[in-house]
Amino acid sequence: MKSIQEPFVSYLSEKSRKKAETFSKKHGLFLQSPREVRKFHNDKLIIWIGQEDTYLQDLSIKNSKPFSLNFSKHQSRNNNKNLLQRCFSKFDTSFSVYDLTAGFCLDSFLISELGFKVKAYEKESWLCEFTKEKLKDQKIFNIKIKNKNSLDVMGEIENKSIIYLDPMFGVDNKAFAKKEMHFLRKSLNDDPDKVINASLESKACLIVVKRHKVDKFKIKNNPSFELQGKVVSFQVYDRREKL
Ligand SMILES: C[S@@+](CC[C@H](N)C(=O)[O-])C[C@H]1O[C@@H](n2cnc3c(N)ncnc32)[C@H](O)[C@@H]1O
Repeated sequence: MKSIQEPFVSYLSEKSRKKAETFSKKHGLFLQSPREVRKFHNDKLIIWIGQEDTYLQDLSIKNSKPFSLNFSKHQSRNNNKNLLQRCFSKFDTSFSVYDLTAGFCLDSFLISELGFKVKAYEKESWLCEFTKEKLKDQKIFNIKIKNKNSLDVMGEIENKSIIYLDPMFGVDNKAFAKKEMHFLRKSLNDDPDKVINASLESKACLIVVKRHKVDKFKIKNNPSFELQGKVVSFQVYDRREKL
């Protein structure tokens, strides 16, 4: 069983202290002053609140720096993501896309770049607010993220939909994970079984599951086809004959 670390909230300057207080209260996270962070938590996950922006940092990583999200940069430097776009290029953009494991919406962004409208759901409230702020700041309007457990939206998903899932299968391997994903893997717990089974039972005629080559987790149904990359693969459950 992996151990989960809840991130602390802190602030970059006195001017952003109030904002940090509000954020920590709203999401039930501990607030620590920068001095307390330096003294007592210099190996922890921190959400830094600034006046204009919010940053994340894993202080346990030597020489780590606070990072934010940059959607367009993500696209050009990550070859595996092109595999995701190759996968979604097989589908019609008139399908509604449901990203039921939204996280930072980096995958949603790549899907939306192909012309799809994406409804994204994230169960963790601090993460949903963080991602929503970044989407707004970077003027990305074709992804709508909501703070909801995806299990509660299965009933509203129509046939002509694609469900996208990128669950955490419990593997935390620094060699494979980018800093963004590493932060999520350390701070969040997942129950991939439930969301995968509920998706397979939903009306959606396409379900795409992202798998990592080190995942041991087995899904009981076999996919219709799979796109394999060096590090990740996409398993596709294609039920379009039911349309
Ligand atoms: C590996 S991350 C996804 C990263 C995402 N693909 C991206 O590009 O940023 C998995 C995310 O799914 C969320 N999640 C897992 N189960 C969920 C559920 N039932 N409802 C909503 N979100 C869920 C987790 O909180 C976590 O943020």
